[in-house]
Amino acid sequence: MDGALRPSLLLLLLFLQPNGSGRAEAGAMELSRILGDSVTFPLGIPAEQLRTVSWTVNATRSLVAVEAGNPPNVIVLDTSYKGRVRVPESNSLQITSLRMEDTGTYSAQISTATDPSNSHVSGSSNPNHRHFLLRVYKPVPEPTVLCDPVTCVSETCNYNLSCTVRDGGDNVTYSWTHTAGGAVVANESILHISLSPRDAHLAVTCTAQNPVSNSSTTASAKDLCAAPTPVSASSLSYCHVKGIVLLLVLGALSAGIITVHVLPGRERRRD
Ligand SMILES: *[C@@H]1O[C@H](CO)[C@@H](O)[C@H](O)[C@H]1NC(C)=O
Ligand SMILES: *[C@@H]1O[C@H](CO)[C@@H](O)[C@H](O)[C@H]1NC(C)=O
Ligand SMILES: *[C@@H]1O[C@H](CO)[C@@H](O)[C@H](O)[C@H]1NC(C)=O
Ligand SMILES: *[C@@H]1O[C@H](CO)[C@@H](O)[C@H](O)[C@H]1NC(C)=O
Ligand SMILES: *[C@@H]1O[C@H](CO)[C@@H](O)[C@H](O)[C@H]1NC(C)=O
Repeated sequence: MDGALRPSLLLLLLFLQPNGSGRAEAGAMELSRILGDSVTFPLGIPAEQLRTVSWTVNATRSLVAVEAGNPPNVIVLDTSYKGRVRVPESNSLQITSLRMEDTGTYSAQISTATDPSNSHVSGSSNPNHRHFLLRVYKPVPEPTVLCDPVTCVSETCNYNLSCTVRDGGDNVTYSWTHTAGGAVVANESILHISLSPRDAHLAVTCTAQNPVSNSSTTASAKDLCAAPTPVSASSLSYCHVKGIVLLLVLGALSAGIITVHVLPGRERRRD
């Protein structure tokens, strides 16, 4: 970069005054990336046709000035992008180690070798502009599945399972998969599923997804929900308890009878 400020680049810097025009540019290429990843904005113009490219972000921050050449002459104008900007060829811009705050609209103002000498025509409809809408997302965390109180009617229980991500971030959508049959209605983060208690151990999976990643949790209604206390099971154990108590009482009674009547009789016979 020693003494590399050629006249055309100085001219470019003069014209790098952001024009403050609207941010939501029509026809912008939309790109979603995960935090820490990198992104490349392609201009779609052969590098040899380019003379200069000036990049801005959100229409108000001057980012990079590029003068075509081999290698291209690059000046990073925004310190928060220092060390994170590469111009592999003059017809593209790469940003590495993406941060959440890099989300925004990136615009390139291009002058080509075939342009008339006054290449800086203002106006966003100028064909020598390119716009890229970059969104940076965190990876979606593992979702948590919770169970609402269960209602059971004649051997069928209705489970409402809800799926959420803590600190979810933006644009998270949910989907469900399950191995159980039965009536199932999934609405976004809520799954309604009707199961007999003996199918409650079958796996249910919630997947949370954002534009750059997804994460799943698998569980079963049996693990998640408080026992619905089905009638048949509880009466069975009640019967068991009753039987054991009855046996104990009978045992005690017969022991008493033996002690009171049979033993004294034997003692008398010994006499
Ligand atoms: C662009 O603007 C959006 C919202 O207006 C902001 O969240 C984002 O951080 C800005 N991006 C840059 C790189 O300044
Ligand atoms: C499950 O959700 C449905 C629909 O929202 C509701 O009618 C039903 O009462 C819920 N059941 C339980 C046990 O919460
Ligand atoms: C979520 O996605 C929609 C459509 O892709 C987009 O319009 C919206 O801006 C996104 N929201 C955030 C916060 O990223
Ligand atoms: C899904 O749930 C949301 C909020 O609970 C509700 O507004 C919407 O109507 C439901 N959609 C369907 C198809 O049940
Ligand atoms: C979830 O992410 C993996 C990569 O991590 C991908 O292969 C898979 O297709 C994604 N699933 C969905 C439903 O997007």
